[in-house]
Amino acid sequence: MVTITARTKKKSSAKIKNAFGSVFSSMRFTMLITYLAVILITLVLMCAYVIGLLSENLYSGEAVDMLAKANTISAMLSENWEPDITVSDARFSDTVDNCLGGTNIRGVVVNTSYTVMCDTNKEAQLIGKVFMRDVMRSALGGEQVENISDDETGMKLITVAVPINRDGNIIGCVYLAESIENISGTIKSTRNSLIVFCVLILVLIGMLSIGMSYIITSPVEDFIDVAQRISRGDFSKRIDVRGHNEISQMGEALNFMCDELSSLEEKRRKFVSDASHELKTPMAGIKLICDSLVSAENPDMDMVKEFLGDMSDEVDRLTRIVERLLALTKLDSEGTAPDIEDADIKLLVDEVVRKLNPIAAARSVVLGADYHDIEFGPIRIDYDKIYEAVYNIVDNAIKYSPEGSNINIDLIEGNGVINISVRDYGPGIPEEAREKIFERFYRLDDSRARDTGGTGLGLAIAREAVLAHGGEITVSDADGGGSIFTITLPYSNKK
Ligand SMILES: Nc1ncnc2c1ncn2[C@@H]1O[C@H](COP(=O)(O)OP(=O)(O)O)[C@@H](O)[C@H]1O
Ligand SMILES: [Mg+2]
Repeated sequence: MVTITARTKKKSSAKIKNAFGSVFSSMRFTMLITYLAVILITLVLMCAYVIGLLSENLYSGEAVDMLAKANTISAMLSENWEPDITVSDARFSDTVDNCLGGTNIRGVVVNTSYTVMCDTNKEAQLIGKVFMRDVMRSALGGEQVENISDDETGMKLITVAVPINRDGNIIGCVYLAESIENISGTIKSTRNSLIVFCVLILVLIGMLSIGMSYIITSPVEDFIDVAQRISRGDFSKRIDVRGHNEISQMGEALNFMCDELSSLEEKRRKFVSDASHELKTPMAGIKLICDSLVSAENPDMDMVKEFLGDMSDEVDRLTRIVERLLALTKLDSEGTAPDIEDADIKLLVDEVVRKLNPIAAARSVVLGADYHDIEFGPIRIDYDKIYEAVYNIVDNAIKYSPEGSNINIDLIEGNGVINISVRDYGPGIPEEAREKIFERFYRLDDSRARDTGGTGLGLAIAREAVLAHGGEITVSDADGGGSIFTITLPYSNKK
């Protein structure tokens, strides 16, 4: 039995350790990866957008500029174009050179059969030769076009072509080309700076998130430690609660749980030791009687009968203790959910009085119940449990009252409650013991209470039952000696 319990404890502790351990280690990692992924995606999208916008602006700005120049050249050439002009004419070169002077743009003018009339790149020696590009074809078809392409050397070029119109006819086209390596260079260096910037940001955020995740998860290590100790039955450690956030609230909750568990554990230990002690007394009595019977030489029948009678009393006592312990366990396990039904409180008190009258009469004690002419409606209670509570209190009152005295039971309706008070003329209960008498196995006068058959459990049972109904049970001094026990139960009067 012991080994099984130990093994189960060990297992559950290892389980908790593993569960917490994996959550803990993966929590830090997950937080870090999540932060970095979010930042990385944001940065990549942002950079792509910035680079896209920049290239768009630079390229399209340049293209617009070149188209304007080509249109100017086209308009000027259109005026000077003579029908007899075939190849290069000085006017062409002057016009084109004037327009493109001071730029790196190459200008080419072709007629409708793609024969070069003018080329600012003198080294190419294309004058009079055929020179054809896709953009030219579109321009001779009447469109203004722009294009970005690679030339034969792999250099990036932006090219535009516009038609030359004269008298409504297309007579040739102006083709302009410019290397945009410088624009690409600007874009590339901007992109490189952005990449460096992004890497720096990532490193910074990475370090920050490692710090953050450490700050967030390190209290979890304390939680794990405390939880592991709890699983081993050690409730001594508490979380050092700092600040006012969710983590500190969790720490407070765990500390509260520890307090509750340790007080429960303390109660459980006390209960077990008290219960064993209580059971030991009658058992020792039985053992003594048995031993005396066994060792008696020639015991006569009367003696045997007397011994057996004593033994029967001890067994009764044992039974009483066990029954009450069972009642208490039942109340504990049912907690705050009794078997509620509509009940008649007068009937309940009447029944208690009827049951206990013979016992009271045997001690010449007079039991009297006064309902003050109040018409009570049904009260929502677990009848058996409240019956047991009232019974225990009246039973005590009879037990601890002097012979020939009175016991008054009063039933009064109050502010949303019913008060059942039981007044006796007994010895009363000292101030300092008024809380303790409701504890399990507590007895004011041990020997006397035991003589009267007391188990010290009656008031504990009564209190558990009343608390489960959301009520309370109190005791106070009575004028002229004795004590008043009052049970207060929630009651909404709907007659
Ligand atoms: N009406 C009373 N007058 C004086 N003492 C009382 C009265 N009711 C209870 N007590 C004291 O409270 C103790 C606890 O009561 P209870 O739990 O009913 O146990 P018991 O089995 O001894 O009756 C009793 O042992 C007794 O000392
Ligand atoms: Mg009692």
